[in-house]
Amino acid sequence: MWKFVLLLALSAPVLAINNGLGRTPQMGWNSWNHFHCGINEELIMQTIDAVNSSGLRDAGYKYVNLDDCWQVSRFPNKTIMPDPKAFPHGLTPLIDHAHSLGLLFGVYSEAGYKTCAGRPGSLGYEVVDANTYASWKVDYLKYDNCYTDHTKPEVRYPVMRDALNKTGRPIFYSMCEWGVDNPATWAAAVGNSWRTTGDIGDSWNSMIGKADQNDKWWSYAKPGGWNDPDMLEVGNGGMSKTEYITHFSLWCLMKSPLLVGCDVRNMSQDTLTILTNKEAIAVNQDPLGVQGHKVNSSNNLEVWAGPLSNKTVAAILLNRGTTKEKITMDFKSVNITSSKAAIRDLWQHKDLGTFTDSFMTDVDPHGVVFVTAKPQ
Ligand code: GLA
Repeated sequence: MWKFVLLLALSAPVLAINNGLGRTPQMGWNSWNHFHCGINEELIMQTIDAVNSSGLRDAGYKYVNLDDCWQVSRFPNKTIMPDPKAFPHGLTPLIDHAHSLGLLFGVYSEAGYKTCAGRPGSLGYEVVDANTYASWKVDYLKYDNCYTDHTKPEVRYPVMRDALNKTGRPIFYSMCEWGVDNPATWAAAVGNSWRTTGDIGDSWNSMIGKADQNDKWWSYAKPGGWNDPDMLEVGNGGMSKTEYITHFSLWCLMKSPLLVGCDVRNMSQDTLTILTNKEAIAVNQDPLGVQGHKVNSSNNLEVWAGPLSNKTVAAILLNRGTTKEKITMDFKSVNITSSKAAIRDLWQHKDLGTFTDSFMTDVDPHGVVFVTAKPQ
């Protein structure tokens, strides 16, 4: 009898991701938003060096991740072949270089027959691909959803989870199925993060729309599994500095993955200053892991907030309108029960004083004031 039970236990599917990763949202860089398919060994080598030397690594950005187009076909033994024109030495020199600098390395594949850009996908090759990634010492997999067999993501994504788990190497599993079938409600057992939206574009309307879509799922985020409203556009040129500060602040408060999407070899000082705001990143990486959410909205003026582990509240006063406006944060509305709270501005890096019952401030059009409120 016990032999039967043991056999059942051993043959049962692994029901959880359980890789110990993603205790806080992942931070790193990804090639897609800026370079799309235009990636190669030299660019990625230089990017690894720039993540290291610019201060991004020290600010917490650990993963350097390839997106679509690094793979080209399969060898006769079915293992995946990196594009020999773009990556003539394979991925190993890049992975080794990243590791030698204390960075981690990620690849991209698909729960479909082909990737979105038409390269070979992993559907039907999950075990061989997971084993190949592990043998290369890959640390992260982004797994997309094009060219499927028309089964649900609930069916296809656990297959790669189990293949990754079986390798014995902890590999962060980033699910990219664009919010199909509301992954927040089921994906915590499958991946370390799941996209809640379609692809972000480098514009105010796209960015703020993704924040709204992602907000709906706030209560499902927790250490080990995060809602993903897509990667950062900060530094790509389509938004103003004020709008990029809003973008970064919202992603920090929402406990979103912080995946830089610009050319970090040629970043402006403004871009670097935004991406390395330690106080904003500390909100994102707070160990409590509660996603801040919209608590108040009227006439384009909003307050978003969430608790932090040190009994303070992080809050964003957001002006979606086109003129400068005053926004008030009522302490009760953000779950501060004492009447007094000390407010700190996370972009000015300045204590603003102690306020009673509420905090009011001017906010620029498309801008935010990002604060912490410490009950007194
Ligand atoms: C999909 C994903 C994007 C990117 C592209 C690559 O659109 O959502 O993030 O990975 O595919 O082709």
